[in-house]
Amino acid sequence: MDNSKQAIYEKLAQDAAALTGGETDVLANAANVSSLVYHSLPGLNWAGFYIHKGGELVLGPFQGKPACTRIPLGKGVCGASAKGRKPIVVQDVHEFPGHIACDGASRSEIVVPLIRDGRLLGVLDLDSPELGRFDAEDQAGLEKLVEVFLERSASPDFAA
Ligand code: SME
Repeated sequence: MDNSKQAIYEKLAQDAAALTGGETDVLANAANVSSLVYHSLPGLNWAGFYIHKGGELVLGPFQGKPACTRIPLGKGVCGASAKGRKPIVVQDVHEFPGHIACDGASRSEIVVPLIRDGRLLGVLDLDSPELGRFDAEDQAGLEKLVEVFLERSASPDFAA
């Protein structure tokens, strides 16, 4: 069996497409995608969504320990990714200025923003207890996953 990251992410995108194929509700799909990610990728302690509402990020569907409910744009890894509208890969969260520690066990993190029609809808956030868990292959795989999720999840908008 091919256990390369590329193979894992190809399967993840296929599974996400199948899981969200018959459903357009963004919240239902976000809930299932967070579970799919958490149970498909090794070495995670948190996977989920923050939703852009009223100029801040509000906790959405996730898997893992309870987390901070509100993150201002520009704060922490999530807020920085949302504000810059770019993915951020953090090898060591202790080295990231302003990192918000929801679970003290987290050592590395990756955040991918959700952008539709030029609007910021939120972010997908993954944490790991391993240092340097995420790299460019994870970023590419998760960007593809977010694309699938956004294509399928037409309504209602997160921000509605
Ligand atoms: N560490 C994040 C906060 C969210 S939790 O990891 C679930 C941050 O710095 O934005």
